[in-house]
Amino acid sequence: MSQDFVSNQELVVQARRNLPQSVWDYLSGAAESETTMRRNRLALDSLAFRPRVLVDVSKVDTSTTVLGHKLRIPVMMAPIGSLQLITPEGAVAPAKAAEEFGTVNFVSSVTQPALEETAASTRSDKIFQLYIRGDLTWVEEILGRVKQSGYKALCLTVDSAYYGNRERQLMNRWLPPSKRRETSDRLWQAKLTWETMDAIKEIGGLPFILKGVATAEDAAIAVEHGVDVIYISNHGGRQLDHGQGTMDTLPEIVQAVGGKAEIVIDGGFLRGTDVVKAVSLGAKAVTIGKLQGWALGAAGHAGLVRALQLLENEITVTMGLLGVTRVDQLGPAHVCKATATAPPTEMSTFINLPQRLL
Ligand SMILES: Cc1cc2nc3c(=O)[nH]c(=O)nc-3n(C[C@H](O)[C@H](O)[C@H](O)COP(=O)(O)O)c2cc1C
Repeated sequence: MSQDFVSNQELVVQARRNLPQSVWDYLSGAAESETTMRRNRLALDSLAFRPRVLVDVSKVDTSTTVLGHKLRIPVMMAPIGSLQLITPEGAVAPAKAAEEFGTVNFVSSVTQPALEETAASTRSDKIFQLYIRGDLTWVEEILGRVKQSGYKALCLTVDSAYYGNRERQLMNRWLPPSKRRETSDRLWQAKLTWETMDAIKEIGGLPFILKGVATAEDAAIAVEHGVDVIYISNHGGRQLDHGQGTMDTLPEIVQAVGGKAEIVIDGGFLRGTDVVKAVSLGAKAVTIGKLQGWALGAAGHAGLVRALQLLENEITVTMGLLGVTRVDQLGPAHVCKATATAPPTEMSTFINLPQRLL
C-alpha cells in the first residue's frame, strides 16, 4: 500500500529494489563526473532558513498557480522520456497522479504511449515538452496533434543540442529506446536558434515555456522574445557537466526577468524545504524529475501521489515553522547562505538510506 511509505526515502529504496540496474542508472545518473547533478543538491543545501515566530500559522495554504493553472503545492512533474521503462503505464502514470493530487504534468515528446493516448487518459491539465527532430513542416505536424489533443502549453527544451555523456549508461552498454531509434534527426535540435524558437512558438500558438535556461543573459533574451515561462534547468545534470547548481542561478535570473515572465526551476528537488527555498527566491514552482521516477518505480501512479502527499506535508510544516501561511508571503528574507553539512549526491538529502544506492 502506497500509504505505508512514511518518507520519500522509503520510496527510493523500493524503486531500487524494483528497477533493473540499467533503468536505475538511466533514471538516477547524470553526465560524466556528475558534478552538475551534485551541485544542484549543493546549491540547495547551501541555503538556510530565517524563521519568524509568533505568527498565527494554524492554517497554511500551500497552493499556487502557474500560467493560471492551480497547483495544490508549488510542484509539477518534469518531462521524463522512456517512462514506460519505469512503470508499465508510461506517461499515463504521472498524468493520473497529477489529476488525483491536483497538479500539472509535463509530457515528454520521447515517452510512451502516444501523446494522444496520454492526453486522453485524464482530464487534468497537461503541458507538452518538445524535442525538435525535423524541419518546420515536422514541427507543424506534431504541434497540430498536440493542440488537437488539448495540451494547455508548449515547453521547448533547449539544453540538449548534444546528448550528454551519461557514463552509467555507456558503461552498461545500454541506451534508452528513444536514443536507440535516433538517426541524424537529432541534428535539428543542435541547429536551433532564437529565430527557430520564435517560429516554433508561433506555430504552437500556446502559452510557451523555455526549458533549459541557465543564465541571466539568456533569460533576458527569452523575455524579449515573449516567452511566458522561463524554466531554469540543467536537465538534472544529465547534459553539460561542470555547470552551476540551478539554485545558484535563480537570483540572477529573477533579477533579469523582472517579473515579465513566470519562473519554474528544477534540479535536485526532493524535499519540502527545497521547494520553499525556491519559492522564497522567486520561483513560482519547481518540477521533480528523479523523485518522480523513483516514486513511479516504487509503486506506479499511487507511489507518485504518495510522494506528493509527503512533500505537501513537508512544505506545510516548513511554511508554518517559518511563520508564513501563504506562498506569496515567502521572500528572499526567509533564506540566507549557509555551509552544507554533507557531501552532495543525488540522494544525500535522504540521510537514513542504508547507503548511497548505486
Ligand atoms: C529519466 C529522465 C528522463 C528525462 N527525460 C527528459 C525529456 O524527455 N525531456 C526533457 O526536457 N527533460 C527530460 N529530463 C530532465 C527532467 O525534465 C528534469 O529537467 C530533471 O530531471 C530535473 O532534475 P531532477 O532529476 O534532479 O529533479 C529527464 C530526466 C530524467 C531523470
